[in-house]
Amino acid sequence: MELTVETLEQHWLPFTSNRQFKREPRLFVRASGMYYWGQDGHKVLDGSSGLFTSAAGHCRPEIAKAVSEQLQTLDYAPSFMRGHPGAFAFANGLAAIMPADLHHIFFCNSGSESIDTAIKIAFAYHLARKEAQRTYLVSRERAYHGVNIGGTALSGIMRNKEAFGALMPGILHLRHTWLAENRLQRGMGASGAELADDLLRFVQLVGEKRVAAVFVEPIAGSTGVLVPPRGYLERIREICDRYGILLVFDEVICGFGRTGLAFAADSFGVTPDIITMAKALTNGAQPMGAVAVRDGIYQTIIDAAPDGALEFFHGYTYSAHPAACAAGLATLKIYETERLFTRAAEMSDYFQDAMFALQDLPAISDVRGYGMLAGVEVKPGKTPGARGSELQAKLYDRGLHVKTTGDVAILAPAFIASHAEIDLIGAILRDAIAEY
Ligand SMILES: Cc1ncc(COP(=O)(O)O)c(C=O)c1O
Repeated sequence: MELTVETLEQHWLPFTSNRQFKREPRLFVRASGMYYWGQDGHKVLDGSSGLFTSAAGHCRPEIAKAVSEQLQTLDYAPSFMRGHPGAFAFANGLAAIMPADLHHIFFCNSGSESIDTAIKIAFAYHLARKEAQRTYLVSRERAYHGVNIGGTALSGIMRNKEAFGALMPGILHLRHTWLAENRLQRGMGASGAELADDLLRFVQLVGEKRVAAVFVEPIAGSTGVLVPPRGYLERIREICDRYGILLVFDEVICGFGRTGLAFAADSFGVTPDIITMAKALTNGAQPMGAVAVRDGIYQTIIDAAPDGALEFFHGYTYSAHPAACAAGLATLKIYETERLFTRAAEMSDYFQDAMFALQDLPAISDVRGYGMLAGVEVKPGKTPGARGSELQAKLYDRGLHVKTTGDVAILAPAFIASHAEIDLIGAILRDAIAEY
């Protein structure tokens, strides 16, 4: 189809300046491995794994084959009162790589749905324990938990919620963990573990048995990569344990090797009660999300209902869609046979070196990172975010795709990236940022 002002009009793009995009469209028509190609044949190195999705690189034939075969065998099966073998196989495969006893998996279709599902699981669990008075949820400033109503209410990025009315009541926000003294520190910052004590204050404020769950991105991703300070997550865990609060790790970005182990929970040595995931769950090849819960939480909810009754009044038409399960199973196999989480760990130092090497540029205000995830922040231009938005267009034109939020470029290459490709990411960033 020829792209004209008229043919571009009907698609309302999400999280996009539609007017600007339609004036100057930059879109992708093809992908393979570490690269995208634009509509004019322009080759673009993928510095952000799509949208943190394609950790094993693009257009993996194993995934395409599995999805194609699945669609020709069983294209759709309801998961309400039915099911299909791929759903059980994929849940088993995921359980095998989850931390501790997070062995029960609820499927949905996106990261946003995984968050709203986790909210419902937390409330259902407390109701089953006869603690329905736990109506408060705790999130953090600068948090991103997707865009459904629950996740929007949890959002600590105010622009994402200010247009949307009252949302949910009873949400409290911990302070974010960006601290000036941790600026340009690699990995976990030395200062800030005590920020976790905000949770104690909330418990004192609303009452010991009023908080249902705390939602934490182990590394806050979409806001621009905030690595937790050393000791911070342990302290959150300890306070949750003391007051019977569920700890939810939103690993939609961190999960599946981004931190060098299967989950950030493994890398940081802190086990949550619930993990939400999406994106690299299927290498981005099919829309899917999932929620893993500890065995005891599942069992408590199940046992609270009479035998034969539905235990949890929640689910999606496309929960455990056969094509998504097939993509997920093929993805897990790639991660395992190519040892991609180990490869991510092995490449991390090289990648972080390349990102931190940019700090001498006058326009850089901060660099942060852990594993195969980094935030490169530039000093703001006329208005906050304007320079970031301009930068992502400039980078695209120079052959690098990068997700930006505000004035932060968020780098998250696929784990198959070569040293030369990481060098190229660094070189294009340097070239573009040096202009400021
Ligand atoms: C931590 C986190 N949670 C939830 C989401 C929402 O996922 P989705 O866009 O698939 O709904 C995202 C998306 O970037 C995310 O980074």
